[in-house]
Amino acid sequence: MTEAILKITDLQTHFFTDNGEIPAVDGVSITVNKGEVVGIVGESGCGKSVTSLSIMQLVPSPPGKIVGGAIQYKGEDLLTASKKRIKDIRGNEISMIFQEPMTSLDPLFTIGNQIREAIRIHQKISKKEASRKSIEMLKLVGIPRAEEVMNDYPHQLSGGMRQRVMIAIAMACEPEILIADEPTTALDVTIQAQILDLMKKLNKEKNTAILMITHDLGVVADICDRVIVMYAGQVVEEGTTREILKDPSHPYTKGLIRSIPKLHEKDQKLYSIPGTVPKPKLGVVGCRFKDRCEFAHDRCFSDSPELFSLGNSRHSRCFLIDDPERKVAQDAAANIGSQ
Ligand SMILES: Nc1ncnc2c1ncn2[C@@H]1O[C@H](COP(=O)(O)OP(=O)(O)OP(=O)(O)O)[C@@H](O)[C@H]1O
Ligand code: SF4
Ligand SMILES: [Mg+2]
Repeated sequence: MTEAILKITDLQTHFFTDNGEIPAVDGVSITVNKGEVVGIVGESGCGKSVTSLSIMQLVPSPPGKIVGGAIQYKGEDLLTASKKRIKDIRGNEISMIFQEPMTSLDPLFTIGNQIREAIRIHQKISKKEASRKSIEMLKLVGIPRAEEVMNDYPHQLSGGMRQRVMIAIAMACEPEILIADEPTTALDVTIQAQILDLMKKLNKEKNTAILMITHDLGVVADICDRVIVMYAGQVVEEGTTREILKDPSHPYTKGLIRSIPKLHEKDQKLYSIPGTVPKPKLGVVGCRFKDRCEFAHDRCFSDSPELFSLGNSRHSRCFLIDDPERKVAQDAAANIGSQ
């Protein structure tokens, strides 16, 4: 039986700014099972980072605040847990690789000090042995001259190197869950592939669950078992990676997949979804994707679609699911459009 290790239910994280209340995450529910790799995809501003920061209660406050929902880690409610307990879980049981690496390394300690301590919290080994392991981890994430880098301070490293150090530290902790927010976007493709392989290894060998936030559907195809597609603060589609990539249901997911450049088609015109993600605001009427959706119809402007079930654990937030005749017509039109 699958065991939920992380269960986010109806999460609402809002920002209270001079320009009003911004519902950046608006009713998001996500379950990650033990040992599972789950991807969150969506364009910039969809609420991916705010969702992941909410799990660890790292949303900057003010202006941010979790105003509703529940987050459970192995059945324990994180939103009502003590500050001490959250601190304990952070970095030990749930590790996070941030989009902004500079903010998460301590500027006052050497790289060696930080990675060695992370290892020694989890393994009762000598300082010398921990140093040896630290160097090994740094080499594994592609850091050249790892022995020398042990004595460097964070500001002495480039952004890409700091990101790799963060990844090494997060993995050295051998957490139950690794939350990785665009972990490899800033790195070159060789290092990117190397780090994804490391994550896969961590997942296979230690059964670490991974929540992988990415723009890159190639990364999703490579590593994720299941995918959550977010749009304007909500989940709009979820399913297994295979289902989503082979047979996307939601018009937004279809658009994302259509935007992937195809290697074998030279000189092709790259497709991009028209328009941009709307700024989150309260009281939106209708489907949030309606202004960009080629299948928008009357109902999309007056009602808000729920997450309709497509069987198994597959869901799509689109009225077409509820209207089989219209869906058949839409699929036919989409097939003509993509030829
Ligand atoms: N400190 C803040 N104050 C006000 N609004 C914020 C703040 N941080 C995030 N937001 C808003 O929350 C929304 C979601 O942002 P988030 O960073 O989660 O997007 P994202 O999906 O991670 O995008 P990206 O792919 O660019 O990283 C955005 O509209 C953003 O403007
Ligand atoms: S509900 Fe309507 S506007 Fe929204 S994605 Fe479906 S067809 Fe498009
Ligand atoms: Mg982000």
